[in-house]
Amino acid sequence: MKPKILVTREVFDETLAYLAAHCEVESNQPDQPFDPAALAQRLKDKDGVVCCLTDRIDDALLAVCPRLKVVANIAVGYNNIDVPACTARGVMATNTPGVLDDSTADLAWTLMLASARRLTEAEAYVRAGDWKGWHLKQMLGVDVHHATLGVIGMGRIGQQIARRAAGFKMRVLYQNRNRLPADVEKSLDVEYATKDQLLAQSDFVVLQVPYSPATHHYIGAADLKKMKPTAILINSTRGGVVDDAALINALKDGTIRAAGLDVFENEPKLNPGFLDLKNVVLAPHIGSSTEATRRAMAMTAAKNAVAALTGGTPPNLVNPDARAKS
Ligand code: DGY
Repeated sequence: MKPKILVTREVFDETLAYLAAHCEVESNQPDQPFDPAALAQRLKDKDGVVCCLTDRIDDALLAVCPRLKVVANIAVGYNNIDVPACTARGVMATNTPGVLDDSTADLAWTLMLASARRLTEAEAYVRAGDWKGWHLKQMLGVDVHHATLGVIGMGRIGQQIARRAAGFKMRVLYQNRNRLPADVEKSLDVEYATKDQLLAQSDFVVLQVPYSPATHHYIGAADLKKMKPTAILINSTRGGVVDDAALINALKDGTIRAAGLDVFENEPKLNPGFLDLKNVVLAPHIGSSTEATRRAMAMTAAKNAVAALTGGTPPNLVNPDARAKS
């Protein structure tokens, strides 16, 4: 008998075809998100789940899914999954590292360039019919080239963000839990800095740390005050890493110049204070959203799930201790 798997949100046809070759699949192509009760109801007799960051996989859910062997997230971040609870119950948890690094780095850069050059404000101005002609001081922005970029979180995506700075002739500072080896720093052309040094010296601060209780409000009011008044903050990682209310105040009172945000606290219900501000570029969590990358993410998750359900070790297992128990 094939193992039973639930796919909680719409995926690509090839993702379902691959899963169906190995599993009995219950899909959700209409893409109506399940509330916790509906998710529990559908998952209680399943051996595996391919899920997204919109699904909360917590201990209460695991408790009613005794057959569950694998939770395969279609994302590199997995703060929607209670990993210690999975491990305790022998449930393997997997993510999709690597396949989205370049696309996510591109989006961080999109936000940098758009906020530096006021692109969304400029577009709204044109669309509203307010543009009466060229003038010298129109929509003055700031230069990205030759500026200082500070990357906080120098994992795979952070490194791709840093690499792109060479073409803009930028100085790049970085902060990371662990300092990179000297040869990696050299090849990336980056300088290690403390958080305070980075905040004080950077023209652009890009956040790429994963969200966890340890990084909750990693950037708050006091940190924003340490930044240059001309600086721009980019959050392309997870909501909650920034204290959004504090950021709104900082954008309003000129503590910093601007922000570019792809993620928000309590998304999609973002703080309405952002909507009144011209100096923030807003995007709906699309960091990895290119067709090729989202296809690759979905297939990576499917392969992780199938590996776990057919007795193998998933390539992207985040809790190896669970395997011993499963
Ligand atoms: C991730 O992979 O963590 C992204 O945020 C999903 O788009």
